[in-house]
Amino acid sequence: MTNRVAVIGGDGIGPEVLAEALKVVAAAGVELDTVDYELGAAHYLRTGEVLEDSVLEELRGFDAILLGAVGPPVGDTSVPPGTLERGLLLRLRFELDLYVNLRPFTGVPGSIAAGTDFVVVRENTEGTYAGEGGFLRKGTPHEVATQGSVNTRMGVERCVRFAFELARSRSAHHLTLVHKTNVLTFAGDLWQRTVNEVAPGYPEVAVDYHHVDAACIYLVDQADRYDVVVTDNLFGDILTDLAGAVTGGIGFAASANLNPDRTGPSLFEPVHGAAHDIAGQGIANPLAAIASAGLMLEHLGEADAAARVQAAVRDYLRTAPTTTSTAAIGDAIVERL
Ligand code: IPM
Ligand code: MN
Repeated sequence: MTNRVAVIGGDGIGPEVLAEALKVVAAAGVELDTVDYELGAAHYLRTGEVLEDSVLEELRGFDAILLGAVGPPVGDTSVPPGTLERGLLLRLRFELDLYVNLRPFTGVPGSIAAGTDFVVVRENTEGTYAGEGGFLRKGTPHEVATQGSVNTRMGVERCVRFAFELARSRSAHHLTLVHKTNVLTFAGDLWQRTVNEVAPGYPEVAVDYHHVDAACIYLVDQADRYDVVVTDNLFGDILTDLAGAVTGGIGFAASANLNPDRTGPSLFEPVHGAAHDIAGQGIANPLAAIASAGLMLEHLGEADAAARVQAAVRDYLRTAPTTTSTAAIGDAIVERL
């Protein structure tokens, strides 16, 4: 059966990098039935809508969603901060219950973390992202702003179990919980206890714990300590930007926003943003989008095509210069399939 995929090109370089990703998927021999959706900054400015309820309902019916990038140009204030983040990206994560944000990293030759290979499992529906909090006495000298971190046993446990399953399936069999248990003694305690309670079901997986500040140092000078990292939403957001930087640049970082229970479609997107400064020039790096499409193929059960895309990306990174055009990089991946 042909997979039905919703394609959200978005803003800036989003559509151009997705075009290469779709070219690679086709060349890998996977036929997709795609429907384009116009969402993002341009859509918001044109219609005043971020994500229409009817569009959200349509999206639920797809097998997967492929997203390029959304956001206005840096410094453009026509889209208030948070509008697209909360109204589109986080709304999709929450509504579609995309509770794992899976971000794999491979240190490319010449990068600080060359030769490393690890995956961050970022909890994707809770923590400080949940939106708990508010203002008191806003606009007065006595103003109070609170922003709570929401951690449910169910939400932590399903993410931790996913990470253990992943660690069991990989050759290193290693899992590191990253948190700040020495200061965040409530949330950290729940995470640590959950890991401790799930671990005995995975006797072959070695378990470690690092504080998030220490993990930032290790990522820079000893990233080979990591195989599977499991962490909360905000720590995962920050750590994966750092991980992208040390493994070769955010231009290579792919992500899968997964609904592992498959009660709806999962969403696949490069970690990078819309990069309006280089949009339309044909020079954006499409590798993160291509690798994200590879993750999508894996999720759709196209294991062989996914493996070939992943191998082609790895081979390209090993052998080719990366300072070439968007289309040329897409072609180079297609040649290697
Ligand atoms: C990411 C992004 C998003 C996040 C923003 C755009 C809401 O930074 O996917 O990492 O914070 O999760
Ligand atoms: Mn981020």
